[in-house]
Amino acid sequence: MKKILVTGALGQIGSELTGRLREIYGAENVIGTDIRKVDGVEDEGPFEAVDVTDGEQLWNVAKKYEADTMMHLAALLSAKAEAFPRIAWDINMGGLINALETAKELNMKFFTPSSIGAFGPTTPKDGTPQNTLQRPTTMYGVNKVAGELLCDYYHHRFGVDTRGVRFPGLISHVAPPGGGTTDYAVEIYYEAVKKKEYTSYIAKGTYMDMMYMPDALDAIIQLMEADTERLIHRNAFNISAMSAEPEDFAKAIQKHIPEFKLAYKVDPIRQNIAESWPNSLDSTAATKEWGFKAKYDIDRMTADMLGKISQKASAAGK
Ligand code: SER
Repeated sequence: MKKILVTGALGQIGSELTGRLREIYGAENVIGTDIRKVDGVEDEGPFEAVDVTDGEQLWNVAKKYEADTMMHLAALLSAKAEAFPRIAWDINMGGLINALETAKELNMKFFTPSSIGAFGPTTPKDGTPQNTLQRPTTMYGVNKVAGELLCDYYHHRFGVDTRGVRFPGLISHVAPPGGGTTDYAVEIYYEAVKKKEYTSYIAKGTYMDMMYMPDALDAIIQLMEADTERLIHRNAFNISAMSAEPEDFAKAIQKHIPEFKLAYKVDPIRQNIAESWPNSLDSTAATKEWGFKAKYDIDRMTADMLGKISQKASAAGK
């Protein structure tokens, strides 16, 4: 990886991954792209406005910078995709095939994330195996399964070096997710700092896999740098750092903010999505094939999240 193009560079993962890649590979060697350009974004390194549904535009930018790697992150998350299924198909699938075509034509290494959303209600819920039943019931899930298969196809049919993971809910204090089912696990920290209480739209006892963003960024880089001979699964590796429900977050937060209170007002749409997803993934294939290991458990993550959000809140208050 010498010249890396990132799509969705202003999104939940992209806004942190782009900076991290620039630290490692050099600012001028990481080209951020997103549907919009925001003020000051070019101060950090090269940046172009690219609509991933326009294949020619994407190809032109990749060609212009002679990028050798594509990190394709532009996509709609689960709840948003459920609200706008047709738009989700166009962006998630149209964007992916354009990105894969560009990677094929320009001989680029390729990363795109799949998700716990690629599983459905008939998938084994606990210790969900790497290879198992995938019959998701959401548009997002349909996109993710099709995306996993499409990446496998571009590898065995055209020899594109495609790689990917199934991310759990990602938790971060930098960019808000927006439109996901696991977003409650981010909101709860902001509200804990601001109001010492949170009303969860996900019901008590609903377990989902989660991960702190620094572990997610490490996983992407580690997988992309892994020796190709070691990769048997290549795309869609299960990875997880913790399996948690709302009460687990509340308990971890109460160790720092004892008066924190958790209430519930369940949103049936997102609850339904959450219930169709696994409780806990088995990530042994990722550990075996490229050494995946998460550093943050819920307590370590909570301490860091609360510290960082409090710092931001007090800086904003000044
Ligand atoms: N965090 C994502 C979502 O909730 C899962 O991939 O949509």
